[in-house]
Amino acid sequence: MDLLSFVLCVLLEALAVYSQDAGEERIVGGYAPVPHSIKYIVSVQTTNRQHFCGGFLVSPSWVITAAHCNIGIERMMIVAGDYSLSVYEGTEQEVFPQFLVTHPQYHYQTNNYDIMLIKLKTPVVLNNYVSIVLLPRDDAAIPVGTMCRVSGWGYTSPTGGSIPSSLRTVTLPIISSAKCNSTGSFNGRITENMLCAGFDLGGKDACQGDSGGPLVCDGRAYGVVSWGIGCAEAQFPGVYTTVSKFRRWIDNTIFSYYNCKSI
Ligand SMILES: *[C@@H]1O[C@H](CO)[C@@H](O)[C@H](O)[C@H]1NC(C)=O
Repeated sequence: MDLLSFVLCVLLEALAVYSQDAGEERIVGGYAPVPHSIKYIVSVQTTNRQHFCGGFLVSPSWVITAAHCNIGIERMMIVAGDYSLSVYEGTEQEVFPQFLVTHPQYHYQTNNYDIMLIKLKTPVVLNNYVSIVLLPRDDAAIPVGTMCRVSGWGYTSPTGGSIPSSLRTVTLPIISSAKCNSTGSFNGRITENMLCAGFDLGGKDACQGDSGGPLVCDGRAYGVVSWGIGCAEAQFPGVYTTVSKFRRWIDNTIFSYYNCKSI
């Protein structure tokens, strides 16, 4: 393991312990969707089945998640078709990553360019429980006030736990970057690669362990759960990676993979 991966692992383990102490670390203010109604979401897990991030399928062989969810390829697996993490439902498809493509400009201190592509070793089977989600067009803007859905599982206990851990979801409005970047909020830390979503009064948000999951607006995954300060606080909405800014990078990465393979 290289030094950066090691540091990330240590950080993630610290976060896992912290989130366990903090208790309710799931989608905040949301609800349990109809089982298997959100088919594009995947759980990104350690090889010993500890959920630590979300992700979403953009094709049977490719998942998008956050760059900060990279704990090292040999420690990761992907579960599609899941609903309750603690119950075997027979709909789950477990696949291993073949390789990870972290955005080359990802910076862990600023959270800028927090996006990663995962190529799966074997494609998932699309069925009644597993599907892909559409992406926004290149550079497409999403109007302030648009209601978007974010979903996730949050952390499970590092010991495996017995807590039922079903998927949660919540809908949130897009907030203007100007407001999100203002002194009363993130004070200059919002880049053009980030978008913010949440209510003025807080109360609804993604939280630790939802990272990497999709923010879906008008049927397209416009955001990747990236970071925040606390969860569901009025002053600090959730911050998401703006997928439309990376549409070309995503297409080029996927295309060049198949291009290389055919040579
Ligand atoms: C947020 O503010 C910082 C500092 O003023 C600025 O550099 C950055 O471009 C702003 N972000 C956006 C999206 O306007």
